[in-house]
Amino acid sequence: MSEAYLTTHFGEKDSAKLDFYLSHRGYESARRAIGSMTPSEVVQLVKDSGLRGRGGAGFSTGLKWSFMPKPGQDDRPRYIACNADESEPGTFKDRAIMERDPHQLIEGLIIAGWAMQAKAAYIYIRGEYVHPARVLEAALREAYDGGYLGPRVMGTDFAFDVYLHRGAGAYICGEETGLMESLEGKKGQPRKKPPFPANYGLWGMPTTVNNVETFCHVVHVVDRGIDWFRGIGTEKSTGTTLFGVSGHVVRPGYFELPLGTTAREIIFEHAGGIANGRQLKGFIPGGSSTKPLPASAVDVRMDHDSLAAAGSALGTAGLIVMDDTTCMVRASKVIAHFYRDESCGQCTQCREGTAWLDKLIGRIEAGAGRMEDLDLLLDVANSIEGVTICALSDAAAWPVQGVLKHWRDEFARHVKEGKCPFPESFEV
Ligand SMILES: Cc1cc2nc3c(=O)[nH]c(=O)nc-3n(C[C@H](O)[C@H](O)[C@H](O)COP(=O)(O)O)c2cc1C
Ligand code: SF4
Repeated sequence: MSEAYLTTHFGEKDSAKLDFYLSHRGYESARRAIGSMTPSEVVQLVKDSGLRGRGGAGFSTGLKWSFMPKPGQDDRPRYIACNADESEPGTFKDRAIMERDPHQLIEGLIIAGWAMQAKAAYIYIRGEYVHPARVLEAALREAYDGGYLGPRVMGTDFAFDVYLHRGAGAYICGEETGLMESLEGKKGQPRKKPPFPANYGLWGMPTTVNNVETFCHVVHVVDRGIDWFRGIGTEKSTGTTLFGVSGHVVRPGYFELPLGTTAREIIFEHAGGIANGRQLKGFIPGGSSTKPLPASAVDVRMDHDSLAAAGSALGTAGLIVMDDTTCMVRASKVIAHFYRDESCGQCTQCREGTAWLDKLIGRIEAGAGRMEDLDLLLDVANSIEGVTICALSDAAAWPVQGVLKHWRDEFARHVKEGKCPFPESFEV
């Protein structure tokens, strides 16, 4: 675990306080960026580091930042939105960062603000995250009182504000344009793209949205440089990430490890293996929207390319582990129900399709399914993928496609036996 750096001070007394942060080189990276680097040098550094967003899609952070119009070309105010909505089932890493090291995030925002010459950043935090919001509020107050935020950041001419905005508990407000609509006080419904946020974001102004963890990595890239960062992880998935492990393991929790660590190492070494002496049946690698993989795939490396090759995705690195008592139909039902509930309803394919997935899986689980429902299920999943305004319908389709690929026989057994063959499994 020698590569861990985001979590170095987690668990230490007062790790969320400014004095603690300052005594551990806090705000030094921001000072260096503002004091000795031009905004475009910071953008280039982040690009060259290979840092990819940690919010799910894994897009190059530096490249995204470079899409923002430069002052002089376009003098509209520029904004940053920090995505702290974290509502994907199986994902809980941003919460840990905000609770335990909030100044790390604020410093990352200041560097991003300088790089993109932004006027302000808005942290959009999930409504249920009451404690993290309180910790962040206190940290923001300290940062303003200490002169790290406000009209003269660290005594320079750079003015930068950070606002905290609490959501009201809707997964769709984590989608970047849904987030912006919600921040503007409207219903959190995603916008059609183009125009993209770099051109038309918050209040129609140029905006960049990144995940909490993404901003935090930037602090360390500025501190320790490109070669150091690229030396961790794999060629195309650089650095560490916080793997959040939940489900049937001995030690659920988050573990900061290099990207490319195998699922086997994460599950069996860091999370202590499968609980109650059971066997691994399968795992969902990156939050509920990624395709589940069977136990035979446990040696897969947890990075973007390796997981794509294995037929899934890294997503948010929220690994959900399932033992051999798990009914995959019931597990799919829980997930399908979530997406049905969270669809914002704008697109017919998503509104109707997520409802059909939920209904069909529910029918099979209840023992009332027909054999042709298996093909129908796949047909519905395939027909809602890639055709809607945002990726929520893809997120609903992928787990269904994955589970039918690896556990179709289990669905068929439910139909043949007219009941769920897994009485021990968890209740929906
Ligand atoms: C339905 C839906 C929900 C999402 N929820 C989140 C979320 O809670 N947090 C997050 O960082 N990204 C979430 N995303 C991804 C964001 O749209 C966006 O890609 C991300 O915040 C960009 O940050 P990154 O480049 O640093 O990864 C979601 C996407 C979709 C389609
Ligand atoms: S895909 Fe679903 S959640 Fe996304 S905009 Fe369309 S209806 Fe709303």
